[in-house]
Amino acid sequence: MLKEKIEEIRAQAAAAFKAAGTAKELYEMKVQFLGKQGSFSGLMKEMGKLSVEEKPVFGKLVNEVKQALEVIYDNRENELKGQELAQKLQSEALDLTLPSAGTPAGSRHPISIVIEEISSILARLGYSVRTGPLIERDRYNFEGLNIPKDHPARDMQDTFYVDQSHVLRTHTSPIQVHVMETEKPPLRVIGVGPVFRADSDISHSPNFHQIEGLCIDRKVSMADLKGTITFFVREYFGKDLKTRFRPSFFPFTEPSAEVDCQCPICSGKGCRMCKDSGWIEIGGSGLVHPNVLKFAGVQYPEWQGFAFGFGIERMAIIKYGIDDIRLFNENDVRFLRQFSL
Ligand code: DAH
Repeated sequence: MLKEKIEEIRAQAAAAFKAAGTAKELYEMKVQFLGKQGSFSGLMKEMGKLSVEEKPVFGKLVNEVKQALEVIYDNRENELKGQELAQKLQSEALDLTLPSAGTPAGSRHPISIVIEEISSILARLGYSVRTGPLIERDRYNFEGLNIPKDHPARDMQDTFYVDQSHVLRTHTSPIQVHVMETEKPPLRVIGVGPVFRADSDISHSPNFHQIEGLCIDRKVSMADLKGTITFFVREYFGKDLKTRFRPSFFPFTEPSAEVDCQCPICSGKGCRMCKDSGWIEIGGSGLVHPNVLKFAGVQYPEWQGFAFGFGIERMAIIKYGIDDIRLFNENDVRFLRQFSL
């Protein structure tokens, strides 16, 4: 009886091992038949009923059957593991010949883009770019621009002083003085770069950028200045916008004018950018003051000049409809990415 039972379990176990579809299922079958609580363990309890002679015979048989089943189990396990590995390899296969997703390219900073655009428009009128020191002598930032010591015009600019005679330049106008001192007229130059002022809120940054134009020639009038700026505005905004010159004061120009152009966002109809006026201020300008020419060694009235200065951030803000000047210095890629080509 017991022998038949053993054979029956052997047949069931062998069939179950072969039928198992996964290593996990197979292992569960092993526990069921060969485990501590399994079918064979049940049989062992019944062996107690056998005679002394019968016991070793059955013990031997049980061991043989168990060993045979272990072999079947091992073979099936190898088979299943092999299949599972083959499947895994296939499903995780990489096609190394596929084209890549590409390397994301960086983008140029909007300030660099605007500087390059402005420079290339003015280059077509014969202007070439100059730079100058960021720490500037009082002599260039103020004195040479007809702003003597204790002149109230010094209060117009919130100056960072380095020491008694040096400042972080508050504008690019000192580049004019350097150029006139070192180069011979006629001159058509633009001075470009960072400038610094002790001022900070949503529309003022303590470090920003300016672009400065200077034209020195034998006969220069406000008409030349207006023509140059009108051409520039149309080219820069890519629209036929009108310009308007409002009388103003700068120590280094006489006469002086503030320059407005029709708002490029609404083309002069009125919008948030131009505060419904249809006009937007873009910078200062004027005919170079004789004191400035003489200080830098330019023979006046034989040589005369006009000059103008724009804020670069402002030019970018107007063109791209940016509403917070601080974005230029935060380097948030979500902002910068919008200026990629
Ligand atoms: N330097 C002036 C400023 O920063 C801007 C300016 C006004 C520049 C008139 C000029 C000019 O060249 O003619 O406020």
